[in-house]
Amino acid sequence: MNKKILIVGFGTVGRGFYELFQWKKASGRLPYKDDIEISEIVDAKFGHLRDFSQNQIENLKAGEGLQSSEVVEIIRQSDVDIVCEFTWVDIKNNAEPAFTHMMEALRNGKHVITTNKGPIALRYQELMDFANTRKLRVKFKGTVMAGTPSYNLLGLLPGIKVNKIRGILNGTTNYILTEIENGKSFEESLNLAQAKGYAEADPTMDVDGFDSALKTIIISNVLGWFGKEHTLSEMEIEGIRNLRATPDGSVTKLIVEADESHASVKPTIVKKTDILAKIGGVLNALELETDTLGTIVSIGPGAGKIQTAQAVLTDLGEILA
Ligand code: HSE
Repeated sequence: MNKKILIVGFGTVGRGFYELFQWKKASGRLPYKDDIEISEIVDAKFGHLRDFSQNQIENLKAGEGLQSSEVVEIIRQSDVDIVCEFTWVDIKNNAEPAFTHMMEALRNGKHVITTNKGPIALRYQELMDFANTRKLRVKFKGTVMAGTPSYNLLGLLPGIKVNKIRGILNGTTNYILTEIENGKSFEESLNLAQAKGYAEADPTMDVDGFDSALKTIIISNVLGWFGKEHTLSEMEIEGIRNLRATPDGSVTKLIVEADESHASVKPTIVKKTDILAKIGGVLNALELETDTLGTIVSIGPGAGKIQTAQAVLTDLGEILA
């Protein structure tokens, strides 16, 4: 069957997904049973494209733009099967406009894939209840550790219980901390992280620890591992804004920890023998303390254009299975 995709949000992630999708499709590496194409793109800044050519994509420029209501109307009228929501994260505004985009897609019978942490961390139950009553899927692998396997490893481990998680879940701050260790300044390192497409549209989300916190909430609460809902207001959150140097010979990392009763993100001095001390640059790591296998660690890129797009191919595979 022929399936179609609408991309909502054509910034770093949207473009990364478009490029990766065309590349893998052309090289015959999309292992889906359905024939699938990206048939429509909408972005509040760039406008709306349907049945476009490669040339139009390359020449896409910010034009007059679209109102929020026009973007929602385009989602409503689209004839696609899957909406990929890649707009920016806004935690001050109840995860809007992404939440409305996703709900509108579901209301009109479309599955949703997102890399946007806001709706999944803050309004997960609302989204899932709505999707379940319509027998639709909402997939969000790209919200945690980009395409690197993270919470989805649990799908390979039936019956396992995770008692605790610990890790490094933000590429931007890990990159900054690594560069500070190498002698660069905080500001220079942040600029580099932005230029490489790692940082959020609002980089204070990274620097002040909120991006790591949202990812911890997505892993620990959304998956129901701990039977307790950690929330942003209850979490202990400290970023790296005031960190300008690490004590000689030590390694400081922005570490997240969560178990049944407590969740935190804070700069932590780690021993050089700790596996997390060796996670440099944009790499992320997630340690899962389990009841049957002891500790499992997944390590890999946690941000980046193509790296995040890879997660969308994983989600597509689950929807089209
Ligand atoms: N700003 C995020 C990071 C992007 O640096 O990890 C990936 O979620």
